[in-house]
Amino acid sequence: MNPVYEKLMNCYESVKKKVDFTPLVALVLGSGLGGYAEEIKVVQTLDYREIEGFPVSTVPGHKGRFIFGYVGEIPVVIMQGRIHYYEGYPIQDVVLPARLMKLMGAKILFLTNAAGGVNYDFAAGDFMMITDQISNFVPSPLVGENIDELGPRFCDMSHVYDRDLQEIIRNAAKKLSIPLKEGVYIQLTGPAFETPAEVRMCRALGADAVGMSTACEAVAANHMGMKICGISCISNLGCGMTENPLSHAEVQETADRVAPLFKKLITESIMQMGAEKL
Ligand code: HPA
Repeated sequence: MNPVYEKLMNCYESVKKKVDFTPLVALVLGSGLGGYAEEIKVVQTLDYREIEGFPVSTVPGHKGRFIFGYVGEIPVVIMQGRIHYYEGYPIQDVVLPARLMKLMGAKILFLTNAAGGVNYDFAAGDFMMITDQISNFVPSPLVGENIDELGPRFCDMSHVYDRDLQEIIRNAAKKLSIPLKEGVYIQLTGPAFETPAEVRMCRALGADAVGMSTACEAVAANHMGMKICGISCISNLGCGMTENPLSHAEVQETADRVAPLFKKLITESIMQMGAEKL
């Protein structure tokens, strides 16, 4: 068996032994959103360490566990703590959790992150709904022998971010009077923040926000036929766009500051996704 698929199936078997829950939405929490789980009706939690063969995160502030529960009536699985490529894992390990949540039954993948704004119309604290992405600066998780059980060799990428889900998020933001920007997310490897020249490159390529996660997860989930949506919390403007040097503390601070609003937006969006029976 393909070793990437074998590892995934081993993790899945391990989860199945411990959890009996079928989520509709799989939610990945970015920086500052770790506390979202406190808002939902939790049924069960599963530490990544309890899953045989599962890659475990090392970033401070990132807890590593799945949370199973309900947002309103909607069954969700939440990833509290994601795995980043810059931690040194092979890219197939980085996307393993997203694939695993699809196997658990999730049809929708809701990605969140903290990101640097490279669009001059953005300000720290803004939310940007992701409409498209650039993932070419990190390896594709689909390189290597295709895993036919997961999806096709050559997959269409016309609408990675589902248009119906985008409309739902737009409406949720409107209902809550939360201003919502839209734009293209570009993933670089990190872990260093970008140089001013790299930020200009991102802008020239058509990106609006830059980060170190998300796009590779969307590639893997799109391959498996999931419906995907995503929101970035713009935690800072890109390096060189202001006089401030960047720090993880600043990213965390802004993300924490707007987290209450971010949580409301996510909750409302998920409730509407359930209502529309996607
Ligand atoms: N660059 C890359 N990733 C980030 C940034 C940034 O400016 N802010 C938060 N995550």
